[in-house]
Amino acid sequence: MPGNNLPAQLTSLIGREREIGELRQMLARSRLVTLTGAPGCGKTRLALAVATDAREAFPDGTFIVELGPLADSGLVPQTIATTFGVREGPDRPLMAALHEHLRLKLLLLVLDNCEHLLDACANFLEATLRACPTLSVLATSRELLEVNGELAFRVPSLTYPPEGTDHIYEYEAPRLFVDRAQLTLPAFKPTAEDWQAIGAICRHLDGIPLAVELAAAKVDVLSPVRILDHLSDRFRLLSGGRRRPGGRPQTLRAAIDWSYVLLAPAEQKLFRRLAVFGGSFTLEAAAAVATADEVGRADVLELVARLVKKSLVVAQSSDEQARYRLLETLSEYGREKLLAHGELSDVRNRHLQFFAEMAEAAFKEWRTEAHSSWLQRLVLDIENLRLALDWARSQDRSASVRLSGALAWFWWTSGRLLEGGKRLEESLQPPEGTDFDRARALDGACMIAYHHSDFLALETFAAEQVIVCERLGDRCGLASAMTALAEVALFKDHDAKAAEALLMKSLELSTTGGFLTQESEALTILGLIGFWRDDLESVPQPWERALRLSEQVSDVPQRIRMLADMTCLNLIRGRIIDAARSAAAALAAYRATPGHHSLEEMLLQCYAWLAVEAGDIERALQLEGASRASSRLSGYGEPPTWSRYWNPVLRKAMAAVPAEVVERALSEGVQLDIEQAFALAEALASPAPIADRRYVEIAGVKLTRRELEVAVMVAKGMSNRQIAARLVLTERTVEGHVENLLSKLHFHSRAAVAAWVVAQNELAVERPP
Ligand SMILES: Nc1ncnc2c1ncn2[C@@H]1O[C@H](COP(=O)(O)OP(=O)(O)O)[C@@H](O)[C@H]1O
Ligand SMILES: [Mg+2]
Repeated sequence: MPGNNLPAQLTSLIGREREIGELRQMLARSRLVTLTGAPGCGKTRLALAVATDAREAFPDGTFIVELGPLADSGLVPQTIATTFGVREGPDRPLMAALHEHLRLKLLLLVLDNCEHLLDACANFLEATLRACPTLSVLATSRELLEVNGELAFRVPSLTYPPEGTDHIYEYEAPRLFVDRAQLTLPAFKPTAEDWQAIGAICRHLDGIPLAVELAAAKVDVLSPVRILDHLSDRFRLLSGGRRRPGGRPQTLRAAIDWSYVLLAPAEQKLFRRLAVFGGSFTLEAAAAVATADEVGRADVLELVARLVKKSLVVAQSSDEQARYRLLETLSEYGREKLLAHGELSDVRNRHLQFFAEMAEAAFKEWRTEAHSSWLQRLVLDIENLRLALDWARSQDRSASVRLSGALAWFWWTSGRLLEGGKRLEESLQPPEGTDFDRARALDGACMIAYHHSDFLALETFAAEQVIVCERLGDRCGLASAMTALAEVALFKDHDAKAAEALLMKSLELSTTGGFLTQESEALTILGLIGFWRDDLESVPQPWERALRLSEQVSDVPQRIRMLADMTCLNLIRGRIIDAARSAAAALAAYRATPGHHSLEEMLLQCYAWLAVEAGDIERALQLEGASRASSRLSGYGEPPTWSRYWNPVLRKAMAAVPAEVVERALSEGVQLDIEQAFALAEALASPAPIADRRYVEIAGVKLTRRELEVAVMVAKGMSNRQIAARLVLTERTVEGHVENLLSKLHFHSRAAVAAWVVAQNELAVERPP
C-alpha cells in the first residue's frame, strides 16, 4: 500500500457512498477539487473517506495537511513541505525543492481547512499544480479557492427524513444519531417513539453531522423526546420565535450553544480554556493551562473524558502519549466564550508558561541522547510553540527573548532555519530582556545564521553577544561569540589569519574556564581553516580533539557532526579504511539519535564516495541521487569546500559508466526514502565491496588489496596520476594509499617501495576480482 499519513478514524462513517463515488470521478477529471460547505457539515470527514478510498489510484501516496491551526499564511508552503519531509535550506528555495520532490509523483494531497488562508493556498496551488503535472489536490474550505481548473463540490448535509415517514433508519442523519448515541450509552435501543423524535431532531438540525453528534451525546441524561424539546426551545430563543429556513450556520450555532449551556460549570470552563491550544494537546498541557477557579488539576482527566463523550473534544488515536483536539468550529466557539468571560489573557499566559517550561527543559538536554525525543515532542506541539512565541512577543518581551533563545536549536535541527532566524530576530529587536536571556538568544541566533550561511547577520549578532557577555562576565558565552566572529572572518572576509587569532582567544577562554562544548565548536572551525588554506594535514588534530570533547560531554549532535566531517576528511585524504570506519560510526550515531536532518545529505555523499572507491559506481550514483533528494531537506555545507573535492570524483565515476546507467542510477536514488538510502549505504559497508578489500599479509606486513595494487603500480614506475586514472580513483586517494604504504613499510621513498615489491617477486600482478 502506498504511503499515507491519513489518521485512523475512531468512529464509523455513515452513508456518503454516492458522494464518494461522485468525488472520485471529479478527481479523475480535475487535479483540484474543493469541498465547500458550512462548518460541521462533514467536509473533512468526507475528504478523508475519499482519500482513503482512492489510495490505490495514487501509488505515490495520499497525504493530508491540516491547515486549521495555522495562523500565519506565510507558513502554508512550509507546513505542506514538512509533511513530505522537505525542508528549507540556504540557497534552496523551499517551493523549488518541494516541486522537485512532487514532480511526476502520482500523489493526492488533501488540504484541510483552507478558508482562513484562501489567498496563500490559492497562490501555492497555482504554482504547484503548474510545476507538478501529476499531482492531485482535494481541498476543504468554507469558500472556493478560485484557482484555474478548480472543480467545486458542495458537501450536502446528511439525508434526513421528511415529516410523517416511518422509514427513519433509511436516512443518514438518524443513523449517525443512533451510532453516536450508542457510543455514549451502549445499551441505547431506540423505541418507535424514540425513532420519531430522532427523525424530528435531525430535521431540526438540518442533518448537519456535527450538530447531530452533539445532540446524540446527550442520550445518557435525556431521552430523544426530551432532547427534541430542549432543542426546540433553544431555536425559538435564537430566532425570536421564527425558524428561518436554510439558516444553517445558525442551526449549528444553536446546537453548539445548546451543548455548551448543558455542560456543568467546570466542564464549560475547561472546554473554553482548551480552545487556546493550536492543533492538539496533551492532558498534562490541558491541566497546566485550564487549572484555575473550579477546575482542579486532578479533575482535568475526568473532565476531558466527559467532554470527549459529549463530542466536544476529539481523542486522537496514538500509540504514544494520548493527545486531544477541538474541531475547528468548536475551537472558534470556545475562543469567543473565553473572550466573553475575560479569561483569554490569563489562559494564554498559562499556555505561554507551560510551553516556556517545556522549551527550557528541552534546552537543557538538546545536546544529549535525549535530542531526538525532544525534537519529536516539540514538533507535535509546534503550533502551540508558535502561539506561545506570538503571545510573548505581544505581551511580554522578556519572555519572548527567553523562549526564542531556548528554541533556537529546535528550529535549526528540525530544518526550519528561515522561521527560526525570523523569530529570533523579532525577539531581539527592539533590545529588551535581561542580559542573561539576550546572551542566550544571541548565541542561538548566531547558530542559526551560521548554518544558514548568513554571515552578515552572524556578524551583527556576534558583535552584540560580545558586548552583552562582557557586561555579564560570561566567559563561556564570550568564547562562543569569539568562535562566531572567527566564522565571520573566515567565510565573509576570507581572512584566515584573523579567524585563527579569534579562535585562539576563544580556545583560551574555553580551556581556562573548562567550557568543553565551546572548545569543541572552536576546534571544528579551526579545522575548517585548514580546508580553507588547502592544508589538509592541519585538520585532523583539532577535529580529533573536537570529537573526543563531544564524547566527553555527551554532546550527541556535535559528535555526529564531527564524525561526518571526519569521514569527509578521510575520504579527501584517501584514507579509505578510516573513512569507512568513521562513516559507519556517524551513521550509527545518527540512527540512534536521528533528527539532525542537515547531516543526511553529506553522509550519503560520503557513502557514495566509498562506493566509488569500492568500484561500485552504480551504487555510488544511487547514493548520490538519494543525497540530492535529501539535500532538498537540508542545506548543510560543512566543510564548505566538500563539494570541491567530491564533484570531480563524481564526474569521473559518471564518465566510467554509460550515460543510461548514470541516469537510471541517479533517478533510482532520488526515489529512495531516507531509510532505504541508509540501508543501501549500510549494505555497502558490511560484507560487499568494501569488505572485499581483504587484507593481504606479505612478509608480516598487512596491506589492503588496494594498497597492494598501488604498490605494484608504483614499482612499475607509474605516477600517482597514472595510477589514479587506471584505478578510477582520485589522485589524492592514491596519495593516501602511498602514504599508508610508506608508513606500514617504514619507508621514506617510492623507490624503497618499488624495491620491496621487486623483492617480494612472488607477488604476481593480480587484479582483485
Ligand atoms: N458521514 C459521516 N459519518 C460519520 N460522522 C460524520 C460524517 N460526516 C461528519 N461526521 C462527523 O461530524 C463532525 C463534523 O464533521 P467535519 O468533517 O469535521 O466537518 P467540517 O469539516 O465540514 O467542519 C465530525 O466529528 C465528523 O466525524
Ligand atoms: Mg473540517
